[in-house]
Amino acid sequence: MTLLIAALPGNDAMAAKLAALLNAQLIALEIHQFPDEETLVRIPTSIVGHELALVCSLDRPNRKFLPLVFASAAAKNTGAARVGLIAPYLAYMRQDTQFHPGEAVSAKAFAAALSRNVDWLITVDPHLHRIHSLADIFGIPAQALHAALPLAEWISREIADPILIGPDEESTQWVSEVAKRVGCPFVTLRKVRRGDTDIDVAPPDASAIGARTPVVLDDIISTGKTMAQTVRHLVAMQTRPPVCVGVHAIFAADAYRSLTAAGPSRVVTTNTITHPSNRIDVAPLLAHGVRSILSGGSNP
Ligand code: R5P
Repeated sequence: MTLLIAALPGNDAMAAKLAALLNAQLIALEIHQFPDEETLVRIPTSIVGHELALVCSLDRPNRKFLPLVFASAAAKNTGAARVGLIAPYLAYMRQDTQFHPGEAVSAKAFAAALSRNVDWLITVDPHLHRIHSLADIFGIPAQALHAALPLAEWISREIADPILIGPDEESTQWVSEVAKRVGCPFVTLRKVRRGDTDIDVAPPDASAIGARTPVVLDDIISTGKTMAQTVRHLVAMQTRPPVCVGVHAIFAADAYRSLTAAGPSRVVTTNTITHPSNRIDVAPLLAHGVRSILSGGSNP
């Protein structure tokens, strides 16, 4: 069975990399947008009996979800044996509980909807906090890959004497893992979130940082407020110029501009979401995940 790979709009570069790494055949989707904003997806290639992997990073998920559902339906109608989803970024994972009475737990509802529409899923560093494993919310094989190695390789290569700074307690899980691989110290800060853009990050302890270069590391940069406030603390403390490293470059609205204005020497992200700050390639990690899931593996 040949592995076929198809990109949803905006995912062509990652799909091409994965096709090359996996020796898979890249196929095109025809996507027609009607004047009333309905979408029609067609697969113009014969895919009968083949495994198809759709590549769709799920930042800005609301406008991406229905085309993805239709692409999967088109693949099934056209005879694909199985349809998988490579979602380098998996949305809605931060809405992992009912924070207020009457709310949806969007992470669970979204995972259930995806599970009804694809046969397997792989993603990179989903925000697993109150939900501990993708297996708890997905009804299909779902594999969470971790970008710790490519992040650690980049930091080791580019930054002399780093100290990693996790801007909140949730970040301990990935910051500690990257620090272990780099062989450098790390600290995590305390953050209080009062609203979408209203947060307070406590300043780090200057003596812990000393003459090292602070590398602020987080999984998601959305409004950029968390990183920007951490950077402002470091700048005020006159540490070495801080570097910001994020896994998922959402950068909502003017987040990138306001984060760079806070004073980091660099802002660097992985290419789970295409953005000018992308410097760390996770395609080899995703290719490894596809090989593993196709051979029957899955992990939290
Ligand atoms: C939250 O818990 C995440 O780990 C990130 O710290 C958060 O999503 C960053 O959000 P923002 O960029 O909007 O401050």
